[in-house]
Amino acid sequence: MDIYQVTGLRKPEIVERIEKYNDLDEPTKELIQAAIAAKGRAYVQYSNFPVGAAFRAKDNRIFSGCNIESASFTPTTCAERTALCKAVSEGYTEFVAGAVVAYQENAFTTPCGVCRQFIMEFAPNDIPLFITKSQPNVEKSNDDFVLATSIYNLLPHGFRTYKKN
Ligand code: THU
Repeated sequence: MDIYQVTGLRKPEIVERIEKYNDLDEPTKELIQAAIAAKGRAYVQYSNFPVGAAFRAKDNRIFSGCNIESASFTPTTCAERTALCKAVSEGYTEFVAGAVVAYQENAFTTPCGVCRQFIMEFAPNDIPLFITKSQPNVEKSNDDFVLATSIYNLLPHGFRTYKKN
């Protein structure tokens, strides 16, 4: 039996892969560059770990965001949610792609669990997510690796409720 048919769960529509930055299409490079620019504005005096994110809305407009920390830690907002909150508060609630950029030597920085659920809220269908490293003040190299994944890959069987879709 097909589990997706039986359960109504959503199947990932995008196969995860590694791409080279240079091989990406121009709209994806533009999205990554918007995330890099936002990372430069990260407010991270507690972790010193800047993150940038950018989402392309259905009408093609890009919204970017950085992480914003707080002295009491709990109110910290991740870059992904900053970008989406900016967009939603401007009336944009559906997105076609996202990018997340942060630098860790030995790991790609994928969205936290809370952000995955938040992204899914505004992605009625699976959307591609491009995760990449970028050091401060270093130009993105054409050979840099990019993890091309998607929200359904990052949050399999994510919670959906009674709302539309
Ligand atoms: N952070 C993000 O902004 N996005 C992620 O995908 C992972 C974590 C932030 C939250 C906090 O400001 C810092 O990274 C360290 O956890």
